[in-house]
This record gives sequence, C-alpha cells and structure tokens, in this order.
Amino acid sequence: MINKIHFGKRIASARKRLGITQTELSERLFVTPQAVSKWECGIALPDIEILLELSHMFKITINKLLEDDDLPMELTGKAVSGDGITYFVPEEERDYNLPWVNDIKNQKWISKNWKEAQKENEFMDNVGKMIADEGGVILETGAGPGGGFMPYILKSDPNATVIINDISPTVVREWKAFLDKALDSPSIYYSAFDFCNMPFKDNSIDVISDGGGIGNAEGDKTKALREAYRVLKPGGLLVTATGYVNKETLADIPSSAREILAKKRPDVFEDLYEDTVLAGFKKIDSVISGCWYTEDDDSTIADLARSLGINLKFTSYIRYCRK
Ligand SMILES: C[S@@+](CC[C@H](N)C(=O)[O-])C[C@H]1O[C@@H](n2cnc3c(N)ncnc32)[C@H](O)[C@@H]1O
Repeated sequence: MINKIHFGKRIASARKRLGITQTELSERLFVTPQAVSKWECGIALPDIEILLELSHMFKITINKLLEDDDLPMELTGKAVSGDGITYFVPEEERDYNLPWVNDIKNQKWISKNWKEAQKENEFMDNVGKMIADEGGVILETGAGPGGGFMPYILKSDPNATVIINDISPTVVREWKAFLDKALDSPSIYYSAFDFCNMPFKDNSIDVISDGGGIGNAEGDKTKALREAYRVLKPGGLLVTATGYVNKETLADIPSSAREILAKKRPDVFEDLYEDTVLAGFKKIDSVISGCWYTEDDDSTIADLARSLGINLKFTSYIRYCRK
C-alpha cells in the first residue's frame, strides 16, 4: 500500500530542495497548482507519466518516491523491530536508568522540550538550519530528552532525513511516540545503540549532530569520536556541543581550589577538542554558544564550588568538525 501522506511529504521536500513553489512545479508539469497541492497533502497521487517526470526532475527513482525506504537496514544490515525501532542494545531499560526515564515519561519532558524549541531562538535556529541544509542522512547521537539539535533541524526542514539515537531504549521510544504524532515524517528513523560502537558501515552518514550526547557519554568519549569519524562520509560534518571550565577561567581560580577540583571533579575541565583532533577531524570551527555560573545552580558541582568559596564559570561551545 502506498502511504499517500508520506508520498506527499517526499514530493514537498524534493520540491523545496529544488527551491521552487507549488505553482512553479505545476507549470513545469503542465498541471494545475491544485493538483500539486493535492499530492503534497496526501489526497491524490499523480498519474504514471507525471510520476516519471517527477522522478527525473528530482533525480529520485519512482520506487523511492512511492515507497517508504528501509534506511536502517541499508546502513546497518539489521531489520527494524515491530515497534519501528532498530535495537542494538536490549529492548528492556537498564534498571539503574528507570527513575530517570520514568521522570521523562511522567513529567512529559519530551513534549515540553519540543515546545520550548519551537519558540524563536536565533542562535539555535541557525544551527538547526545549517545542519538541515547539509542534507543527506543526519544522525542525532545521544538525543536524550532534549533531542539535542534535532528539534531545531526539524524546525528548519520537517522532512529532513534524521536517525534519532540514544543508548536508552525508552528515550528512543518516547521520541518515536511523540514525533509520529507531531510530524508523521517518512524520513525519521529510530535506533537504540551505544555511540561508542556504532552499527553503521564506514563512510555512510552525511552529518552527525551531537547536542550534548558525547560530552555526557556513558563510555569512552574518545572511542565515540573515532566512531563518528569512521561512519561519516569523507567531507561529512560532525557538530558537537560541550560545556566546560576553560583555561581562561581556570587561571582565575585560586590554586588550592583548583587542586581540589582537579582531584574531585576532573571532568569539569574536560573538553572534546583534543580527542576530536586525534579522531582525525581536520577542520574544526568553534563557536561559543553561552555560559553559566555555579552560583545560579544546584548541581553537585555547584555545591562543591560553593564549599570552595568560588563561583565557577562554564563556557559552552559548539564545534563544526569536517572529516
Ligand atoms: C544528559 S543527555 C544530554 C544531551 C541530550 N542530547 C539532550 O538534549 O537531552 C545525554 C544523553 O546521551 C545518552 N548517552 C550517553 N551515553 C551514550 C552512549 N554511549 N550511546 C548513546 N547514547 C548515550 C544518554 O542516555 C542521554 O540521553
């Protein structure tokens, strides 16, 4: 059965990528603008000759226009489970993670975070657009309850091809349940796996979008960055987001407090930059996306900073890294 809604979304997306309006497309095909609108709304399908024209114009095979593809199978060789998710970790949530994922579900974090991302935010909207404009297959690693950059990517292009990943099967399931209702896009895929051991073939992904997943990795961050390098196509883009206490801030901290911090929480100085270079990325552009202070916070690191009589500044960076 052809899913007309999905067909319409693929046509709308391909048309937008060509940079033409529904009227311009109708003129090229000698049909009415209403006919194009009906295809894109999933009300009708074009006849076979027009379909052939569309296939030539968009450089997409007729099969790919008509049928939902099986991208995870193409990229990993593993079939999608009955619930529409490709699992490379057990489907059952890990016990120690249950309180956190129950909070995500009960407190509706995903819909709240999605709603928040729909508000105007010039900086994040530009990051999302920049990633969406790269096109191809976009992998959002460690999507978490915030979704990383994914909500901003889909805000820019609701038909972007995105694989949503997390090591937590519940997080992936919750995003699927939410986005099936919110967007019903044929181009969003879901996969639960450990990004330190990605299931993709070498050189198969166009963009890896990591809005704080690798920076908060369960596992070896160096390995995750090496895996990112391996699976990206040559020239592919990795976008990372990290926040840490940078060298400038460190220089202003009294040496006694610095020593205690280094001993108790060495992670606060951890940056992904050197590991990103070591993974092989050649061109790395860093942009400061903001900062926060421990005096405004109630985390464990904020408590430690208060006990040391300091107000620590964390600087957040977004890095654009080319393979
Ligand atoms: C604390 S969240 C923050 C970032 C997240 N992108 C967000 O916007 O909410 C980090 C996420 O990365 C996921 N994660 C951590 N280690 C991972 C790994 N090795 N593989 C895949 N996901 C991982 C966690 O399950 C969590 O959902």
